[in-house]
Amino acid sequence: MTLAHWAAALREHWGIEAELTRLDGEYDLNFLAKGLDGQGYILKAMRPGCEEWLVDMQVKAFEHIAERQPDLPCPRVIASATGKSLLTLPDEEGQDRLVWLLNQLPGRCYAKTEPKSDALIHEIGEVLGGSAKALKDFQHEGMTRDFKWDLMRAGWIQDQLSCVTNPARRAILEQISAEFAGLEPDLTALPAQAVHNDANDYNIMVAGILNEPRRVSGLIDLGDMCAAPRICDLAIAAAYIVLDHPAPEAALASLVAGYHDSYPLTAAELDMVWPLLRMRLAVSVVNSTLMAVENPDDPYVTISQAPAWRFLEGNKLHGGLLTARLRAACGLPVVEGADRVMAWLEQERGSFAPLMGYDLNDAPMGSLSVENSTWPQNPFNMPLEEAARVGGEFEDNGRVWLGYYHEPRLIYTDCAFRKGPFKSSNRRTVHLAVDAFAPAGTPLFAPLRGKVFAAEFRSGHLDYGGVIILRHETPDGDAFYTLYGHLNPEFLDRLKPGETVEKGEEFCRLGDPGQNGGWAPHVHFQVALSTEGIETDWPGVGDPDEMYLWHALCPNPAALLNLPDEKVLYHPTSKEDVLAGRRAHFGGNLSLTYRDPVMLVRGWKHHLFDEWGRPYLDAYNNVPHVGHAHPRIQAVAADQLKRMNSNTRYLHPAQTAFAEKVLSKLPDRFEICFFVNSGTEANELALRLARAHTGSKGMVTPDHGYHGNTTGAISISAYKFNKPGGVGQADWVELVEVADDYRGSFRRDDPDRAQKFANLVDPAIERLLKKGHGVAGFIAETFPSVGGQIIPPKGYLPAVYEKIRAAGGVCIADEVQTGLGRLGDFYFGFEHQGAIPDIVVMGKPIGNGHPLGVLVTTREIADSFDNGIEFFSTFGGSTLSCRIGKEVLDIVDTEGLQENARVQGGRLMAGLKALEQKYACVGDVRGMGLFLGLELINTDGSEATEICSYVKNRMRDYRILIGSEGPKDNILKIRPPLTIESDDTDVIVRTLDTILQEVEAA
Ligand SMILES: Cc1ncc(COP(=O)(O)O)c(C=O)c1O
Repeated sequence: MTLAHWAAALREHWGIEAELTRLDGEYDLNFLAKGLDGQGYILKAMRPGCEEWLVDMQVKAFEHIAERQPDLPCPRVIASATGKSLLTLPDEEGQDRLVWLLNQLPGRCYAKTEPKSDALIHEIGEVLGGSAKALKDFQHEGMTRDFKWDLMRAGWIQDQLSCVTNPARRAILEQISAEFAGLEPDLTALPAQAVHNDANDYNIMVAGILNEPRRVSGLIDLGDMCAAPRICDLAIAAAYIVLDHPAPEAALASLVAGYHDSYPLTAAELDMVWPLLRMRLAVSVVNSTLMAVENPDDPYVTISQAPAWRFLEGNKLHGGLLTARLRAACGLPVVEGADRVMAWLEQERGSFAPLMGYDLNDAPMGSLSVENSTWPQNPFNMPLEEAARVGGEFEDNGRVWLGYYHEPRLIYTDCAFRKGPFKSSNRRTVHLAVDAFAPAGTPLFAPLRGKVFAAEFRSGHLDYGGVIILRHETPDGDAFYTLYGHLNPEFLDRLKPGETVEKGEEFCRLGDPGQNGGWAPHVHFQVALSTEGIETDWPGVGDPDEMYLWHALCPNPAALLNLPDEKVLYHPTSKEDVLAGRRAHFGGNLSLTYRDPVMLVRGWKHHLFDEWGRPYLDAYNNVPHVGHAHPRIQAVAADQLKRMNSNTRYLHPAQTAFAEKVLSKLPDRFEICFFVNSGTEANELALRLARAHTGSKGMVTPDHGYHGNTTGAISISAYKFNKPGGVGQADWVELVEVADDYRGSFRRDDPDRAQKFANLVDPAIERLLKKGHGVAGFIAETFPSVGGQIIPPKGYLPAVYEKIRAAGGVCIADEVQTGLGRLGDFYFGFEHQGAIPDIVVMGKPIGNGHPLGVLVTTREIADSFDNGIEFFSTFGGSTLSCRIGKEVLDIVDTEGLQENARVQGGRLMAGLKALEQKYACVGDVRGMGLFLGLELINTDGSEATEICSYVKNRMRDYRILIGSEGPKDNILKIRPPLTIESDDTDVIVRTLDTILQEVEAA
């Protein structure tokens, strides 16, 4: 048996006792050898007849790397007991083979690694650069062999292109091949050195699964080494990195920047990455097409071409712009001469003709940033009336005011600014120009001489209207460009491309909203150091994650305005500073969600925005019940604050109006409302009412419940008191098992499970009676939320209530999580159960962010509490709170939000159920309306805490906020504002699908 034969060889020649398994290998025998000591090895027995120089080259190269760069994650060659790195040993058939041994590196290949983050790709670049640096002085006779994967010799495909019969595809290859031919002289002039030459995604090993950081753990397989300019090596790795990558340009930039960090590249080399990358893909598809001709029955040959064709045919990347990006990523001049232009602008600062005809140094700045500005009210839609008034607060009798460069703004709401199909997709927000706001008709003067490069009228809503681009040259002959947008298009008759505009010449005027795309009159003044790939269609704003490129290509234009850079440069609040401040000023148990926390400064309905204007889909927060920043809530709050805000010691119609609205949603027996500040305070009060009414102290409550953060509320919150370090269980509290029919004592296949769970209350009551506490009541989140989004079996609560009432207690329903329409089919959770409580507690959603809690009860219970001592909560029931609370409930009604919860909840549930069918790690999907949970399990059915944390954090990477809950924190909690729409529920399901695939692959 082959394995035994090679295990014996390993024992005999290396003294290693190991168990072997066969690995893939086209011609050679490769084995994974697991040593008895736990060490892993790769034993390689080359095909009979394999040239010795080929193996010798690899062995020596690995040894060379180990010597030059010992920290580089490359395999080590393990010498035999006699000190030899390469042996000749007979196989079972007695044929001699070259045999060598490597240590096994941890991890899996990059192809099977997720996520393929920019940071990981950057590290791949670093390792590849490190390997090339180590191999710089490596010499071997095998280096100069002639073979088809040497990019220097890739011209061989030219004569073979006819094998590709599809004319469009052939045309692509011909163009690539011609470009390559043009490049060859420069390429050949570069120094050649030993390079890996095949850093494909199966030759890069990555360690780390789920929540562990991903690290490059190995660069393997030197079988394709040759001598070539190092840029060929990088281009080959790049050709694999881009395939099927959702943002290939960002991936390339990361790879190249990583390489540059360990083995700095020149601009001339960087300029070759794109054409060489394409040439490598061309070689791949031509090679596999030729193989397909030879092996017509092998479908794999064609399938393996598909990603390369998808890239070559589908990508919209512009080579020039991409090259600028790669240069920028490496901190090199973005185009030839860019550094000279910047130096010249610096030198000339102060001597340009004033754009507005006068000095702008004293002009005030006005911020339209995400943080500072509330333009527009709806960050997804800027209506014409708002655009025409934008920045109106800075208007001062027509005096010019300036808008910042590098300022993230939400005013760019058109779909064209979005980089994906969803509202939470990446979005271009960061302003790449300086604005000067002044009355329409204000003349502009050219800061310096230039030739008209473009003079156009762009009629689209919120486009530029009239726009001029001038081309300038420095005395050294380096070109750069300036753009003037939002102009009166009257210049169209006068200014044609190629015409000269002199320094100081009045050449255009600011347009009014009818002429300038619809904006408040201003000029958007932008500089570009190149028009490669942007031509006359410059982005006026950039993606915050791509500022390394846009800063370099469209630098701060302050010098041309004779202003210091700092005056017009916007600095968003730094998340790191805020985090440091938080650590300095707050306790450690004020917890932050996510490994990489988010800072959120604006919101709208079920979306939130960070300081850079990146949108997040809020699928977690129930406090903004009717949506973030609801205009009706703003209006009511502002209106009331203009009038007065006082307390319940004085009469105000808002108090009774709110009480009547709340009671209109409840069964008739509820007549009395108490207004407080929070769910906690309402539950605390509920305890007092229960005790006052019953004269008893004891409480029964389900395990893992949460009712608030005060001493009393924590006493009935096992989720808090039972945690390690918690205060422990009070003797007047008795816990019962949560009625969880997925994981609990009685499962869904038991028709009597509701009654059986309810029966667990009997011994709890008995224990309280025995201890002499009596039974004051039972309190439960109607559907336990922190316990894991659990829907108790129907009939559970009525059965419990019956027992509690029989023992003299009152029944308290904590509807903080479940009330007010979230469940879709029911306004309150107890309706689903067919139970009627004695006290109902409502909390956070009822104020939509304003601190508000409500307790409702019967007159009888309220009377028991009314013992002559005043009940007063200063802010509970304030005029403002009552107005807001009523408005929230009115909005739920008038906007049909309960129905929306039903419809969108159903849609989400259907999508999540499909995921349950698809993925073994989804144990259960449960919930109602927009109160949903997805329980993640390990293969043995146990709670998958780590997977849950991974999914939650990955959802955050995709900018979707969801939570996690449950005693073992393995239940994903989806609980968005009730405004959520179909597109949003779809993106949640789609993204979860993607992430669960990653989990399955891990
Ligand atoms: C079910 C339940 N009850 C009470 C509370 C306490 O509410 P608050 O934090 O507003 O005091 C919460 C808070 O999460 C809750 O989920």
